[in-house]
Amino acid sequence: MEQAQRLQRIPPYPFREIAALKTKMIEEGREPIDFGIGDPDMPTPQFVIDALCEAANDPETHPYDESGFGTLEYKTAIADFARRRFGVDVSPDGEIQSTIGGKEALVHVVWAYIDPGDVVLVPDPAYSVYKVQASWCGGAAFPMPLEPGNNFLPDLDAIPAAVRQQAKMLFLNYPNNPTGAVAPLEYLERAVAFAREHEMVIVQDAAYVEVYYDDADRPHSILEIDGAKDVAIEIHSLSKTFNMTGWRVGWAMGGGEHIEALSRAKSNVDSGTFMAIQRAAIAGLNGYEQFAPKMQAEYRARRDALIAGLQSLGCPIEAPRATFYVWVPVPEGFTSEGFATKLLGDCRVLAIPGAVYGPCGEGFVRMSLTIKAQDKLGQIEQAIDNMRAGGVFW
Ligand SMILES: Cc1ncc(COP(=O)(O)O)c(C=O)c1O
Repeated sequence: MEQAQRLQRIPPYPFREIAALKTKMIEEGREPIDFGIGDPDMPTPQFVIDALCEAANDPETHPYDESGFGTLEYKTAIADFARRRFGVDVSPDGEIQSTIGGKEALVHVVWAYIDPGDVVLVPDPAYSVYKVQASWCGGAAFPMPLEPGNNFLPDLDAIPAAVRQQAKMLFLNYPNNPTGAVAPLEYLERAVAFAREHEMVIVQDAAYVEVYYDDADRPHSILEIDGAKDVAIEIHSLSKTFNMTGWRVGWAMGGGEHIEALSRAKSNVDSGTFMAIQRAAIAGLNGYEQFAPKMQAEYRARRDALIAGLQSLGCPIEAPRATFYVWVPVPEGFTSEGFATKLLGDCRVLAIPGAVYGPCGEGFVRMSLTIKAQDKLGQIEQAIDNMRAGGVFW
């Protein structure tokens, strides 16, 4: 049966192929040291699991969440968290939407706004969902290069005037996957002014906003900027903050107009988040201050070990200030694909070629600090030893 042209327009989800490659290596008895997919290896905190078990035993959580937006209790916990963490006021009544993780919200917000022919400004390199959804709606993704010289922030002034006129949506993702960059408040301020001037909606993907290393670098919410609610919607997720990728829970927050648009699209596709999971998410948010520093300390130790190891091989790299990704420039003479192949073949190290995230990812590989094996720091040390033995130098 011929598939819809719509489906033929989009590529397979890239990580499916990487997962298949890893399975094949395991079958061949060559299990790689895996710095691939960014999926937290640590368990969900026990207090969140306990809250789920208790909630799942309450039959009141079993039906549809008829509110469609998330229960009042969940939205109130989000509003409280947003005030504590970002100093931002969002109303549980109309400025928050519960979501099935971040990805679902990113998809539906594009469907809510983009018509055929509309331009969507998308960072390059980036999480693939932005560009694929733009194309799925018949829109055109205009790439905004993220380069070291710009601290991996899109140069908004470099966007041609004609493109600005046609653009209806601007995607930002800070802290950034795959580069690990953070956006200073002044940059977010500039982006809000830009979106207002050219009448577009900013979708700020905050999936990694809690994975940071120093209080001085604590990432901001775009809603901290005055007037941001008029033009911005910010997507949050419990996936990375609380090691809850499989649970599929998050939220969107922003001005009522944008939340309403997302809700209308979403409510015609899914029927919300299991209410027991919403209760568990409340427990997570209420316990954030106790839990987050432990999660951050764990990644900090791994980051420092990997960065020191790479530097010992001559790699010109600085420690990322947020996310659990390390964006590694490839040695001279390699493409990102060629270098990832060498790492895998000669060093048994799985890293993702930067070009998977877009043409501007060429020249880099991404290494994720989420390491499944028991001895995390030992694996990092082993990877560096393997690279040294495999002749990897910068
Ligand atoms: C940049 C970015 N945004 C959003 C997501 C979606 O995460 P989730 O749907 O689990 O919240 C991911 C997942 O890896 C991501 O890397």
